[in-house]
Amino acid sequence: MSDEARVRADDRAHVFHSWSAQGLIDPMPVARAEGSYFWDYSGKRYLDFSSQLVNLNIGHQHPRLVAAIQEQAARLCTVAPTFANDKRGEAARLIAELAPADLNRVFFTNGGAEANENAIRMARLHTGRHKVLTMYRSYHGATAAAITATGDPRRWPNEPTAVGVVHFWGPYPYRSAFHAGSEEQESQRALQHLRDTIVFEGAGTVAAVLLETVVGTNGILVPPPGYLDGVRATCDEFGIVLIADEVMAGFGRCGEWFAIDRWGVRPDLITFAKGVNSGYLPLGGVVISDAIAETFRERVFPGGLTYSGHPLACASAVASIEIFKEEGIIEHARAIGEDVIEPALHELAERHPSVGEVRGLGVFWAVELVRDRDTREPLVPFNAAGAAAAPMAEVAAACKQRGLWPFTHFNRIHVVPPCTVSADEVTQGIEILDAALAVADRHYAE
Ligand SMILES: Cc1ncc(COP(=O)(O)O)c(C=O)c1O
Repeated sequence: MSDEARVRADDRAHVFHSWSAQGLIDPMPVARAEGSYFWDYSGKRYLDFSSQLVNLNIGHQHPRLVAAIQEQAARLCTVAPTFANDKRGEAARLIAELAPADLNRVFFTNGGAEANENAIRMARLHTGRHKVLTMYRSYHGATAAAITATGDPRRWPNEPTAVGVVHFWGPYPYRSAFHAGSEEQESQRALQHLRDTIVFEGAGTVAAVLLETVVGTNGILVPPPGYLDGVRATCDEFGIVLIADEVMAGFGRCGEWFAIDRWGVRPDLITFAKGVNSGYLPLGGVVISDAIAETFRERVFPGGLTYSGHPLACASAVASIEIFKEEGIIEHARAIGEDVIEPALHELAERHPSVGEVRGLGVFWAVELVRDRDTREPLVPFNAAGAAAAPMAEVAAACKQRGLWPFTHFNRIHVVPPCTVSADEVTQGIEILDAALAVADRHYAE
């Protein structure tokens, strides 16, 4: 049996995959990876325009990051969270130094869902209230509170879920829930809607507003001017904790350490994972304000994880943050977005009628595909599957055939390469997208 056949056989026989009907999938065996590329067993190379699950901010197999993990593995793989540990402490300090002024402590988790789970727990205990307000068009993870908080169809089959989450509409100028005619109007009306929701839920029952600073999988929705400031002011008015979910948007994706830095807004809690160490080891966490930390000074925080602050994972975060600083990766992500990705995507939009809108920042871009630019009818319906989703599947297949691994969601292609992607690699990827979009154009206004 070839190596590839063995990988496939073991996978099909024994691996139970996420978010899948197990009999309907055929996961591609990956043989190796480097920088912005990975290879299958036939030697075919793919340009990774998805950064795996939008987590591989530093690129594949960064030699210094790999070396730091090897070094730590040789020194100390693990100690229980009850002990103090050098790499855990250093990772917490470095993350706190990057976060807004009075967010000084970090509770480490194994990933993003657990980070949101614990942020919600902290907000509830801190305020003594139970409701959490989250957006439709959001993803917060697949554990109990996190999937309840999620405002996309992945929640539906998990219902009935935990109690106490109320969904509201966030800003999305291209498909405004508020019939807004401008970004300013969208911002104002979305804020009024949030305020109304809080008032009608009973402000005294609302512990937290949890939002993705820039909505990720559900559309790369960059908040319009004034929105995040307004959410902060509304939370202050009613004594509500503001939780910024930066699991996808943080650590370089938006050309900032934390996406929220772009708007200068201070949340009370920030959740992170993915880009903190590019998923070389599982790691996430919650950055906690002094006021919330104070709640748990004399009172026990009733949460924990065997691997909270895992030394190997924390060592990889320390090394990754150092590499980001020394190699100027944040600045690179910002510049490549502004100078290369944004203009190239706007050119694609000029050539392809199926491109309804291009939006984003940093290395976080969405190309929204439509059947008609006037009506903005999406190329495939909301949450389409099977035959209804075929046009998007065809676009994705056209990319893969030409050696580009795309990230697609509903009627969108997300251009989310590693933050380290070079201008040449972006150009290669955009050329392939150009060819693949001809497939989408065939479905335009049929
Ligand atoms: C914004 C956001 N929050 C939370 C999560 C959940 O993270 P994890 O899959 O590490 O649990 C994700 C994952 O994609 C995410 O994008």
